[in-house]
This record gives sequence, C-alpha cells and structure tokens, in this order.
Amino acid sequence: MRAIVWTAYGPPDVLQLRDVEQPVPGDDELLIRVKATTVTAGEVELRSFRFFSVLTVPLRLFFGVFKPRGQRIPGQELAGEVVAVGAHVTRFKVGDRICAHAGLRFGGYAEYATLPERGMIVRIPDGLSYEEAATLPTAGLYARYFVQRGDPGPGQSVLVNGGGGSIGSFAIQLAKTTGAEVTALDRTDKLEFMTSLGADHVIDYTQEDFSQRARSFDLILDVVDKSWFRRAVCALKPGGVYLHSNVSLLRFIQTKLTRDRNDRTAGFVTDGNDREGLADLAEMLSSGELKCVIDRTYPLNEIACAHEYAETGDKRGHIVIAVA
Ligand SMILES: NC(=O)c1ccc[n+]([C@@H]2O[C@H](COP(=O)([O-])OP(=O)(O)OC[C@H]3O[C@@H](n4cnc5c(N)ncnc54)[C@H](OP(=O)(O)O)[C@@H]3O)[C@@H](O)[C@H]2O)c1
Repeated sequence: MRAIVWTAYGPPDVLQLRDVEQPVPGDDELLIRVKATTVTAGEVELRSFRFFSVLTVPLRLFFGVFKPRGQRIPGQELAGEVVAVGAHVTRFKVGDRICAHAGLRFGGYAEYATLPERGMIVRIPDGLSYEEAATLPTAGLYARYFVQRGDPGPGQSVLVNGGGGSIGSFAIQLAKTTGAEVTALDRTDKLEFMTSLGADHVIDYTQEDFSQRARSFDLILDVVDKSWFRRAVCALKPGGVYLHSNVSLLRFIQTKLTRDRNDRTAGFVTDGNDREGLADLAEMLSSGELKCVIDRTYPLNEIACAHEYAETGDKRGHIVIAVA
C-alpha cells in the first residue's frame, strides 16, 4: 500500500511517500481503508521536534532518539471504512464508516491502518463526509474538552485564544451553544472567519494585548497556549478560570499555584477517551449544528506541501488529506 513514512526529524520533505506492506489486523483489531486524515499542529510540531516540554525526553525515547524508529507512519486521526475485522471484534463490522483517533500509535497517513476496536473509534452518520469526520477526533474533541471543563453558561463571557485554528474554530462554536458571549482572538486575516463561526467579538492579537482588558472574562480557553500566563489571568473577572493545555513544567507549577485573592484559578485540559463525545460531535456536524471549515485538501502524495502550508500560519480551520 502507499503510505507516508517519517524518515527523520526535520522539514516537511522528511515525510516521504513509500510502498509499504499493508498491515494485517490482529484478533481484536479492525483493518480500515483510510479515506481522509488531517495535518494537525501537533503533527507539524512533532515532525520537526522543535519544541521543549516535559514530554520532550519521553517522546524522543518513544519515537526514536536521533530519528523516528522503524517505518513510522504519522497521522493521529483518520476517517474511513472498515474492510476487515479480527476474530474477536464485536463492536464493528465490514462496511462501517468510522472516524478514529489513533493517538501516538499514528498510522493515518496511509491507505490502510489497523486499530484496536477498544480504541477511540466511532461510526459516523451516512451524510457526513470522510473529510469532515477526519477533523473531529483531535480538534473537535479537544475543543469539547475545553468547553466542558470550563462549563460556561448564558451571560458568561468567554475568550477563545487561537480561535482561527483547528481547535479554536470548534471551540468558538461549542462555547456559543452554551449561551455564553464569545470573544475570539487571532490574527488580522482570521477575524472575519471567526465572526462567521459565531464569535460575538473578535480581537486581533497583532494589534492588541488582550490581557490589558482587565477583569473582562469569566473563562479563558487558551487553546493555542500562547498567552503570557500571569497577565492572562488579569483579564479574568473575580472567580474566573483560565484553561490551557501546555505541558511545560513552568505552566504546571503556575497552574497549581494560581489562586489569587480574587479567587481566579487556572487549570490544565488534557485529552481523554470520550467516545460518546466523539459520536456527539459527528452527529452535530452531520445535522449542521456544528460547522467544519476545511481550508485546503491535499492528496496523500502532496503531504509535504500540506505541512508547508500548515507552517505558514495562513490556514483557517483545518487541512485535510484525501487518501483515496
Ligand atoms: N493532539 C494534538 O495534536 C494536540 C492536541 C491538543 C492541543 N494541541 C496543541 O494545541 C495548539 C493549537 O492547536 P490547533 O490545532 O488549534 O493549532 P492551529 O490550527 O495551528 O491554530 C492555532 C491558531 O492560533 C493562532 N495564534 C498563534 N499565536 C497566537 C496568539 N499569540 N494569540 C492568539 N492566537 C494565536 C494561530 O495563528 P497564526 O497563524 O498567527 O500562528 C492559529 O490561527 C497547538 O500547539 C497544538 O500542538 C495539540
């Protein structure tokens, strides 16, 4: 089968199209004909390994210290059709249309992938395209974790930091469904896009430092983890909550220590294993309650171009790879 192999840590062209052996499902696994996958910010960061966090050393040990070990195929999330099932599989059958989060197992950048049936896999509604479904397991679920953890309500004021990206574009919409007033923050050319997703107000981070808006927000969803932590907290109303997903040690300590005399707190959002949440998102997308904006779609053999485009920062919403 054709697959993208991660040959080194470096620029987009370390991702190379190769003919590799098609995987064979184990007794409790599904064989999936991949129809669509995505380019997430996480994959772009991992590909080059130019980041530092408490996870850097464990991730290097896991993936390979000097270069990716073995014939590693990237791709954290995928959508496709089940074409074979192992002897012990009970939840799925051949012909099911699914989307899945492969996590660090990866494997989405290929024509076929195997995943254990107990993994983050859900059936998708008939009317939902594979391209749209592929955007849900990482960005959709992460946005959902943020909004669920923050639990805003009618009349509350929510700031989504990084609202023009994959996670942010879903977070704006999910926060709006709670009745909250949503302000979205991103760069100049994404302001109109965020308004089109339902944001009540937008802020251009290249023109304004939102942390100067003292005591403005009940909840800050910092999905892009780019704000100055101490200052961002100042933009919260008394009792407000700042949520982020940054795994650096400094952020961890700050998060634990933050509870000022105005009872403003910070929290860390991590991913879970919420299959029901993923199925809900697929229903919402299929019914039109949620919009998924695909900025560009690339074929598998143009994966390097897709990663290059992701690095420009120009994208709004999602980049999808159409595999079949
Ligand atoms: N499993 C995963 O892969 C995973 C899961 C959860 C979280 N994350 C992490 O979460 C982060 C966001 O992910 P994503 O997929 O939503 O990324 P994305 O699609 O690249 O979106 C990020 C958005 O934030 C904007 N931005 C950059 N700096 C900003 C600032 N200072 N203030 C406000 N907005 C700013 C970016 O605009 P510009 O074009 O100006 O940069 C972009 O529009 C990534 O760092 C990612 O690694 C990853």
